[in-house]
Amino acid sequence: MFSSKLLTLVCLLPFALAAPTELVERQSIDTSSHCGQWDTVTVGAYSLLLDQWGKSGASSGSDCAQLTSFSGTTVAWKTTWNWVGGNGVKSFTNMQLNSGLNKKLSAISSMPATWKWSQSSSGTVVADVAYDLFTSNTAGGSNVNEIMIWLANYNAGPISAAYNSDGTPKPVASNISLAGHTWNLYKGSNGANEVFSFLPTGNAIITSFSGDLNTFLKYLTSNQGVSTSQFLVTAQGGTEATSGSATLTTSAFSLVIN
Ligand SMILES: *[C@@H]1O[C@H](CO)[C@@H](O)[C@H](O)[C@H]1NC(C)=O
Repeated sequence: MFSSKLLTLVCLLPFALAAPTELVERQSIDTSSHCGQWDTVTVGAYSLLLDQWGKSGASSGSDCAQLTSFSGTTVAWKTTWNWVGGNGVKSFTNMQLNSGLNKKLSAISSMPATWKWSQSSSGTVVADVAYDLFTSNTAGGSNVNEIMIWLANYNAGPISAAYNSDGTPKPVASNISLAGHTWNLYKGSNGANEVFSFLPTGNAIITSFSGDLNTFLKYLTSNQGVSTSQFLVTAQGGTEATSGSATLTTSAFSLVIN
């Protein structure tokens, strides 16, 4: 015979199990388009940053971005930009991770990352699609090292202290195998901090990246004199846009610091 208590439990159980799914479904996100120079849209552990830091160098143009979906640790977003004039970067529209930062590099065990994207453009585009990480001497301190992992190079180029006689930047290391791809590493200063840039060899375009970003940091601490007592202060992925017209659509972006 069922006691009335047990009967109540049995009746409530389906609702209790359904609750987490309902919460995910109900979570509303701001999918409207944002075009302001410093607009940000936060969802979960991420912020979509317009970051049009070099906008004043353009004679005309615009840059808008919006979230398109969010589930668990995966966010989707897109940006449409158009910049005319000037040789410098106008915007770095990016997805920033806001959690797990300010750890010493020696304390990071992994940084699983996925990024699936596509880009449509018209005319000549000067831009990159890249992860951008910064380290500092202290938690939350000023930038000492910038680590870029380029997934695409559209007529742009890395900061480099050394150049070949034909004017191309000269890598400090070549044919490095990390995260399932082969990279050349460039090094130089941007005037404020050291910049390490991993670029796919053969100008490959990696539209579906899945790998551990910590392996790039480990390469630098093992081979390029970056201290393991540096703190990871910033982790972003986005597009540095200099000129042209493009839409970058990210169907899945996920980054976690363990
Ligand atoms: C990198 O690999 C390419 C293709 O195998 C080769 O041609 C090139 O010489 C290598 N570069 C260096 C510096 O080892």
